[in-house]
Amino acid sequence: MGIVRIAIDGPSGAGKSTIAKRASAELGIEYIDTGAMYRAIAYKMNVSGIATTDEAAVEKMLAQTAIDFVDGNIIVDGRIINDEIRTHEISGMASKCSALGIVRMKLVELQKFMAQQKSVIMDGRDIGTNVIPDAEYKFFITATPKERAGRRFAELSEKGQAVTYERVLADIIERDYNDTTRKLNPLKKAHDALEIDTTGMNIEDVTNIIIQEVKKHGNIKTI
Ligand code: DC
Repeated sequence: MGIVRIAIDGPSGAGKSTIAKRASAELGIEYIDTGAMYRAIAYKMNVSGIATTDEAAVEKMLAQTAIDFVDGNIIVDGRIINDEIRTHEISGMASKCSALGIVRMKLVELQKFMAQQKSVIMDGRDIGTNVIPDAEYKFFITATPKERAGRRFAELSEKGQAVTYERVLADIIERDYNDTTRKLNPLKKAHDALEIDTTGMNIEDVTNIIIQEVKKHGNIKTI
């Protein structure tokens, strides 16, 4: 079958990254978490005290930033920052910085380049509509806001982060609003994506649907 690109989009907390990670291991192809890339930029802005309104400083920082993925880790400027980008604060900032034109331009360009090189499974909000519109497989993964907030809350509590369920639900609703109404590449199901509502489903079942769908069409060339 040759090189395959699998695009996975959907709202926050729908389980995209867990599903994509498992499918990538099972299919033997690289996983690219585009949300982590927006989070990495938000993290750098936070650490350097750059405001989202300071376009010149954001542009300068972007020009000096190197982002890569190795074995599922996100490497920014030579350092693995998987944990630093997964805080409540960075989630809120990433949502805001992902609406900035210069940030999207740089990251989408990088994502398009990554998806040209080899078979990939890439998750985000605009992968099937904008980054890889000609992807061989497109999935749109959703779940109700309450279900997604419940999963996120359990995840954050397990990590020892002090948040309430109500706060997580309010954030999910706010992020859904930001992601679907922003002018640039808003979250939207691609017309040719297969939608999977994961409410009440477990991760294994959803991952299997994706793997079966892809395997139906033969072997994948992984590099
Ligand atoms: O999937 P996530 O929660 O890690 O994403 C972090 C933020 O980045 C989220 O607010 C949406 C945004 N994002 C985006 O605008 N486009 C993408 N392709 C991926 C994420």
